[in-house]
Amino acid sequence: MKFFIDTANLDQIKEANDLGILDGVTTNPSLMAKVGVKGQQAIMDHYAKIAEIVDGDVSAEVFSTTFNEIVEEGKKLAAIHPNIVVKVPMIKDGIKALKWFTDNGIKTNCTLVFSAGQAILAAKAGATYVSPFIGRIDDSNWDGVQLIEQIAQIYSLQGYKTEILAASIRSPLHIVQCAQAGADVITSPLDPILGLLKHPLTDIGLAKFLEDAKTMG
Ligand code: E4P
Repeated sequence: MKFFIDTANLDQIKEANDLGILDGVTTNPSLMAKVGVKGQQAIMDHYAKIAEIVDGDVSAEVFSTTFNEIVEEGKKLAAIHPNIVVKVPMIKDGIKALKWFTDNGIKTNCTLVFSAGQAILAAKAGATYVSPFIGRIDDSNWDGVQLIEQIAQIYSLQGYKTEILAASIRSPLHIVQCAQAGADVITSPLDPILGLLKHPLTDIGLAKFLEDAKTMG
């Protein structure tokens, strides 16, 4: 399972990349706004900086919602760097645009996916990635991990090539559950990724080993 970081914060991207386990980055308009990027050129420059840090796919989301505009915006985003993946919302014109990008060799990530039916459409349109938002599903009293399992089963039965990118991750446990449920990729903020490191018995065990190491000079 690949690990993407879900942020536009360059310091956090560098920190995750320095761990040596990072495979890519996802962003969205809210994450870009959070780091204070303003204006079309600044947005493009920011994606270029991210793509220089990480050797892997970088999802850049379109702000448009009509077919022609999504295609035009996506072409500009894809031209920034070969690793840019055009992130397109799960709407009617989005599906049409996904198919256009597929036919024109541009990688895509279909975002804002909350059901198996939407995931089937994304796969039919040839999306490179499909992003079910598991945390937001949990927030609305459904089971996000169960959706990953369902999509994984359908994709395997049908032979769909689209990769399942579990998004809206909120905890280290989500990451483990997504691995078990058959996700191809998780995209997570930095904290849940670092949370995977933690176990109290590791801390206790290390403290004892270091204490005993001191007795040996
Ligand atoms: C997916 O690519 C989105 O950027 C993201 O995972 C959404 O997460 P949130 O629900 O924590 O905003």
